[in-house]
Amino acid sequence: MPEAYERHLVPVFFRPFAADLAARAAALQPLTVLELAAGTGALTSALLTAVPTASVVATDLNEAMVTAGSARESRADWRQADAQELPFEDGSFDLVLCQFGVMFFPDRAAAYSEVGRVLAPQGRFLFNSWGPLASHGFGAAFQEALEQSMPEGAPSFLKDVPHGYTDPAVVAADLAIAGLALATTVEITLDGVAESASSVATGFLTGTPVSAAMEARQDAGTIRASVTQKMTALLGTGAVTAPMTATVYTAHHQV
Ligand SMILES: C[S@@+](CC[C@H](N)C(=O)[O-])C[C@H]1O[C@@H](n2cnc3c(N)ncnc32)[C@H](O)[C@@H]1O
Repeated sequence: MPEAYERHLVPVFFRPFAADLAARAAALQPLTVLELAAGTGALTSALLTAVPTASVVATDLNEAMVTAGSARESRADWRQADAQELPFEDGSFDLVLCQFGVMFFPDRAAAYSEVGRVLAPQGRFLFNSWGPLASHGFGAAFQEALEQSMPEGAPSFLKDVPHGYTDPAVVAADLAIAGLALATTVEITLDGVAESASSVATGFLTGTPVSAAMEARQDAGTIRASVTQKMTALLGTGAVTAPMTATVYTAHHQV
């Protein structure tokens, strides 16, 4: 999964938002940074380019992601870690960063409590989360193609997880449970540029948990071909561009 994720999804979805988040992080002039759910390191690399003097610990729950990330970006110190149970001392980072990871934490209040514990008194927690699925041109087209191809019941992973944590009021409430205060909320829309609709379909089908639902089916090959063909019909042939909306949050300790 890390290879497909890095090849098909990172350049289109994650690198544009990594540049945005790294610029916001650089403005905070951090010395010690902890990155949660770092995946293959798209944000890690953007951050280390923007702030080469920062000491960066990059973590992810998934050992395969950590292996791929550390091979790609050796300037960071990579560790396997669950965001809900961080193996770090209290107050040891002045910035905690997370790009498109919080939606995956089953117990967000527990993860935010851990962020608060490892964050220095004046530290900042900077993270982003996708907007609703309809605001993501590629995700919306993929889901439509998937539902047309699996009329008996398509996986709802995209709607429920990556695009299922979209309300800033809910985010603020989860942070408050953990003793953190939401300081800024900024909605941004960036364009993703893909070499083809087919490449993005491959990314969703093989580089996300949708792949597990496919592997369980005997007709997986037929469905994959149908999704790719329908997604190409929706987005067009050749290189494709689509808007993608996310919200960027900054939080700190409650005063
Ligand atoms: C959509 S990817 C984002 C990766 C990376 N931040 C990027 O921008 O490319 C979500 C990541 O969250 C990680 N993840 C899921 N649950 C987690 C948890 N409880 N603690 C830490 N990481 C987790 C996954 O392994 C995956 O790498």
